[in-house]
This record gives sequence, C-alpha cells and structure tokens, in this order.
Amino acid sequence: MENQKSTSSIGVMDSGVGGLTVLKQLLALCPNESYIYFGDTKNLPYGEKSKEELILLAKKIFDFFQEKQVKAVVMACNTTSATVYDKFKDKYDFKIYPIIQIVSKILAQDKNLKKIAVMATHATVNSKKYTQELKKYSPDIQVFEQACPLWVPVVEHKLKNYDEKEIITGYLSSVLDFNPQKIILGCTHYPYLLDKLKKYAPADLFINPSKLFANYIKEDLQQHNLLNENGIADVEYIASSNPAEFQENAKLFLEIDHEPEIVSL
Ligand code: DGL
Repeated sequence: MENQKSTSSIGVMDSGVGGLTVLKQLLALCPNESYIYFGDTKNLPYGEKSKEELILLAKKIFDFFQEKQVKAVVMACNTTSATVYDKFKDKYDFKIYPIIQIVSKILAQDKNLKKIAVMATHATVNSKKYTQELKKYSPDIQVFEQACPLWVPVVEHKLKNYDEKEIITGYLSSVLDFNPQKIILGCTHYPYLLDKLKKYAPADLFINPSKLFANYIKEDLQQHNLLNENGIADVEYIASSNPAEFQENAKLFLEIDHEPEIVSL
C-alpha cells in the first residue's frame, strides 16, 4: 500500500453497466482522478453465478488492475462484495472498497432505522451479507432481503417484451408487505429502474447507495493522502464483450463518447 501514489488510477468493477451508477458519483465528488472501469459483460449476470465462479472472475479482474498499478479498486458490485471480498481483501497492494460493507456501516449509524429491506441479486441475498453487516452495527435492526433476478437482464437489455408492472411488482409487493422504512437498492444495476419503481412505491423509500459509497471513498482517499487534487478527469472503459451494447445501455447514467476497449477474461 505504501507504494501507491495519489496520481495512480482507480479501478472500478462490475458485471456490466451497473457500476456506472457509482462511477457517476465518483466523477462528481473526485473530479481529478483517472478511472479504469471494468464491466464484465461477457459473464453477467453475476447474481446467478456460484461463489467459486465469482472468485475466479474477480481474481482475473483484480490481477488486471494490479498490472495497471491502480491505487484502489472500487467494488461497485454488491454480488462480488458479498461473495468474494473476504477472500481478496488482503491479497493485493491496492485498497479495495466493497460496497455492501461500507454502505451498511454508514446506514446503520441512523438509529431511527429499525426496519429495512434490501432488493438485490440471488447471490447477494443468499449470502445474507447485508443482514450480517447491518446487524453488526445495529443488532436490533430487522432486515428483509428480496432477490430480483430479472432486473439485471432488463437493465442490460437481455430480456425483451416483458410486462413492466409484473416485473416490478412481482418482487416489490413482498417487500412492501414487510412495511420497511427504507429499501436499499442492493444491486448497482437497480438505480437504472428508479423511474419504473417510483410508479409502484414512494420514491423516497428507495436508497440508491452510490452517493454514500462515493463520499466514503473520497474521504478515505483523502485521509490516506491518496486523493488526486490536481489531475484531469479521465475514464478508460473496458468491457469483456459487446462494447457497443455497453455504450448503448450506459446512456441512462453516463454518456460515453467511444466504445469501451475489449479485454477478454
Ligand atoms: N451490479 C451487480 C451488483 O451490484 C451485479 C449484477 C449481476 O450481474 O447480477 O450486484
């Protein structure tokens, strides 16, 4: 870690365009950094993969970032934060920021929050990582986790001709029955669906954790003298397949002016 320089890049990883919801906040809060965004489009959805498969994929992405000599890697993917972060946290000489662990710690500081729901991928929900992390800081909090396996294919345009109401309320109704004070969008792809979600539940019920997460990262980089205050914002986009589709799907969150480079995993 001592070798890291503030001018080195920051790696941001996800299975596809989901992590751009985090990158957008990072670009706003830390505008002098250069970023390398890796979307593993060839292997999505991560939420349906086994822990063993996710470990192999994450290792390849971390190794790629290691070669690029990044100063930090932002796990803008709840699924890998839930399943593989513990395995890799001390293995590389860059800082690793896992979204679930950081966001849960911040949210649990609000002691008025007693009942919270999490909507996330199958792998995240099966890991119960959100429940564990929230209860670590707020033992009495009640947490209800709901898997929404079709939402990533909707955002990545892999699912055509679906019934919007059915696909949203199919997962949302049991969450609303739990009567939560807040609903965490526990997959970075889900903020893309906010316009649809708002038709079926009050908008202020949903937490898109990307801003809280980006804010923490900024403060932590600052504390470790790793924040670049003088550089020019730059993003190198990388996808493991379908770069044109990546660029098209990203549009709702970030206008990307060129197709990402392909790096095969
Ligand atoms: N966006 C990721 C997450 O936050 C992964 C979604 C997927 O590929 O299933 O969990």
